[in-house]
Amino acid sequence: MSGNRTFTMIKPDAVAAGHTGAILKMIEEAGFRIVAMKFTKLSAEKAGEFYEVHKERPFYGELVEFMSSGPIVAAILEKENAVADFRKLIGATNPAEAEPGTIRALYAKSIGENAIHGADSDENAAREGSFHFAEVEIFS
Ligand code: RTP
Ligand code: MG
Repeated sequence: MSGNRTFTMIKPDAVAAGHTGAILKMIEEAGFRIVAMKFTKLSAEKAGEFYEVHKERPFYGELVEFMSSGPIVAAILEKENAVADFRKLIGATNPAEAEPGTIRALYAKSIGENAIHGADSDENAAREGSFHFAEVEIFS
């Protein structure tokens, strides 16, 4: 199964704007199967821990504040080549550079408030999935 799962979060901007349903529809229509999902809110501490790799970046404080500003949808998704295919579906970090038709091109507001997260490697997908879900919450 290795390589067949990724982890995503629909970020607070997209949830607040009412795009949750549309984004989940795009994800399922692209062939991803939801194996775990929750509607939740990150504390600033949890958001800081999740994005710890960006601790030294100038946008870290803003990112933590944004990611803890409202509810999110966290999910584990299954598909062949999940990590790479999902990054394709969401598009570039900066929506101005995202391919037309991608989730960020359609729904992201800015490079910081960019609608959705996608894990960038199999290793991070597994780590991020375990960060949000217990084994009993994952249904494959
Ligand atoms: P993500 O991890 O959320 O899927 O995004 P990504 O891989 O496309 O981008 P990454 O470099 O990992 O950055 C993580 C998130 O930090 C915010 N960011 N803000 N203001 C800025 O210049 C800036 N750069 C990045 C975005 O929310 C980005 O998704
Ligand atoms: Mg990233």
